[in-house]
Amino acid sequence: MIRKCLFPAAGYGTRFLPATKAMPKEMLPIVNKPLIEYAVEEARDAGLRHMALVTGRGKRALEDHFDISYELEHQIRGTEKEKFLAGTRELIDTCTFSYTRQVEMKGLGHAILSGQPLIGDEPFAVVLADDLCLNLEGDGVLTQMIQLYKKYRCSIVAIQEVPRDQTHKYGVIAGEQMADDLYRVSHMVEKPSPQDAPSNLAIIGRYILTPDIFDLIADTQPGKGGEIQITDALMKQAQNGGVLAYKFKGLRFDCGDAEGYLQASNFCYENVYLNGR
Ligand code: G1P
Repeated sequence: MIRKCLFPAAGYGTRFLPATKAMPKEMLPIVNKPLIEYAVEEARDAGLRHMALVTGRGKRALEDHFDISYELEHQIRGTEKEKFLAGTRELIDTCTFSYTRQVEMKGLGHAILSGQPLIGDEPFAVVLADDLCLNLEGDGVLTQMIQLYKKYRCSIVAIQEVPRDQTHKYGVIAGEQMADDLYRVSHMVEKPSPQDAPSNLAIIGRYILTPDIFDLIADTQPGKGGEIQITDALMKQAQNGGVLAYKFKGLRFDCGDAEGYLQASNFCYENVYLNGR
């Protein structure tokens, strides 16, 4: 079964400069909680207990966040502020966190390959924390995907329909429709222009990957933008019928850009934060 979740978190976050100059973009708060914590919660809610973070230079705050802060906790013990750390503390107590560094920024495929020593030879999930996914009506996106994995035992990417003029921001798939919300992928392209896009079904930052992906990534040449793309490695799995694309239930906010970030903040303030206080 799937036990581990990989969080590629080495990127510079240039779209959020200057905020991300000295702070990891994954620590940007949506209201009062950093993006990485929403991501780890989604994985924990899906039953995963091993959190594997691929970090880079300047990302120490991520490790400190998922560690006990004795002074702070001592300071607020017994006060009404204690409850604000309860959620984070529960993650620390119920999950293990391991870290490795991606020493060169050579793309998402390369970041995932850098995580191989933390994952080993087992299927695993990948969550890109700047894609914030919420499903207030039911199961989180990763939970939905793991249920599918139990049935099909192959790699799965989460997809959503995007306007045609947005395909250049995503990996885009084409495939045979197996159900309303499920496709068997026959083709995938990284960030195609609208005229080259095989559909408007865009991959978002949730993946279930079988471990043969590591050898496939190692064999993948730099693609779009000169980077080693997970989309290109997955295309090789897809050629053997080994990749499904799942139209998830729920909302997704692209927190890598200012507009999505603000939408996520407003949504969480009204629907999550105010309810939890
Ligand atoms: C990455 C992937 C892309 C995917 C996207 C989802 O791109 O390369 O295929 O659609 O994440 O957020 P990035 O946004 O890191 O450029």
